[in-house]
Amino acid sequence: MSAFIVLGAQWGDEGKGKMTDYLAESAEVVVRFQGGNNAGHTVEVEDKQYKLHLIPSGILYGDKLNIIGNGVVLDPKSLFEEIDYLEDLGVKVTPDNLMISDRAQVVMPYHRILDGVKEKSRGKNDIGTTGKGIGPCYTDKAERSGIRVCDLMHTDVFKEKLQKNIEIKNDIITKVYGGNTLDFNAVYNEYLGYSKKLKPFVKDISVEVFNDIKSGKKVLFEGAQGTFLDIDYGTYPYVTSSNTIAGGVCTGAGVGPTMITNIVGIAKAYTTRVGKGPFPTELFDKTGDWIREKGHEYGVTTGRARRCGWLDLVILKTSARVSGLTSFAVTKIDTLAGLEKVKICVGYKMGSKVIDYVPASLEDLAECEPIYEELDGWDESIENSRSYDELPENAKLYLKRIEELTHTKVSIVSVGPKRDQTIRVSEI
Ligand code: GDP
Ligand code: IMO
Ligand code: MG
Repeated sequence: MSAFIVLGAQWGDEGKGKMTDYLAESAEVVVRFQGGNNAGHTVEVEDKQYKLHLIPSGILYGDKLNIIGNGVVLDPKSLFEEIDYLEDLGVKVTPDNLMISDRAQVVMPYHRILDGVKEKSRGKNDIGTTGKGIGPCYTDKAERSGIRVCDLMHTDVFKEKLQKNIEIKNDIITKVYGGNTLDFNAVYNEYLGYSKKLKPFVKDISVEVFNDIKSGKKVLFEGAQGTFLDIDYGTYPYVTSSNTIAGGVCTGAGVGPTMITNIVGIAKAYTTRVGKGPFPTELFDKTGDWIREKGHEYGVTTGRARRCGWLDLVILKTSARVSGLTSFAVTKIDTLAGLEKVKICVGYKMGSKVIDYVPASLEDLAECEPIYEELDGWDESIENSRSYDELPENAKLYLKRIEELTHTKVSIVSVGPKRDQTIRVSEI
């Protein structure tokens, strides 16, 4: 029995798409369990680059089953655009290789509108969301007024729920935020079209995943976003609206925790963040700019420049704890080649105390000063290294320090965006 989780250990964009694709080679099933098309996962296979938002990164193999779990918020417009995009690139997406949970919440046009107007109304306190309607859709889920995929399959139920929702949302959009009303018939007809197209893909995915794991198939759960964007353990309120940590798999795919065998935290060799919110090791100098350019740190979903900083082991240690990581996969270590010195944050100084966890209060976190350890860098470019032994000694020392300070092994080292630019150090 094996069920692996791949999840982001920082603020997203750690290389989950690449690592999922790499690990999916030995899996039969790949499952997304939270988030929506706010995610932007890049996979490079041979000369082609693929950008995925909703569809699991196992889709590129053709013969893997890909599942969109109940914890995902599904924007059907975005889904069908992504299917068209993949088909244009020669990737087939059919009910044989894609399954969608009947319990997944549906992103509606009013969610996207509300995301925009709410952000605008926050002024300088905006979160910097992706604008995809993610927060408002999860709000409706928690408020119990959401529309689920199974509702779309029953047109009368859908009509009734939509009528109620549009009436209330139009009131909020116009009266609270001064926006424009949505037309019921236009939305209804648009989604009736999606309903027909979705039908062949829709299943009870918890049953499917359970049977797959029990029958000995390898199932890989692909996280979106990262630990510090988690609604509970992230830097609230500068987070996304779902549980990005390992626990999210249980609720987002209907899988019991005892079925999970390995949990890999994907950690970039430095830190990035897109959108607003605290980032203790952020660099505002030339080194930060150098990392951004060398690492092409621009968002896949929004194109925004990513904020860059040193590796923060307080972040990684916390991630290992809250998700019970069995190992780390360290990505983009090739990007750091050429720096004379590299720094890693080994603790925070908070007033007179030294701590190795992330405080809940943003006011306390703002007081935290990173304590750095400085290591010698390496000059040798390493994108062609294919074994641990081939890595420069100083890169190995850097990886060793991660293991020592987080008490978690590094099982995989990624030295470039392509499938084969990956070094397997040990079992995950
Ligand atoms: P995700 O959201 O976690 O899947 O990550 P993104 O796709 O948003 O961003 C990661 C970027 O780094 C993508 O452009 C990947 O192709 C690229 N990438 C992944 N692993 C490596 C690596 O080890 N080295 C380099 N140079 N690029 C990588
Ligand atoms: P992947 O899966 C990086 C960030 C947004 C914003 C916050 C809330 O590619 O790692 P939301 O639209 O979710 O309400 O925005 O979360 N964010 C991400 N940052 N990578 C992502 O996904 C992200 N998805 C959301 O920038 O700060
Ligand atoms: Mg991304």
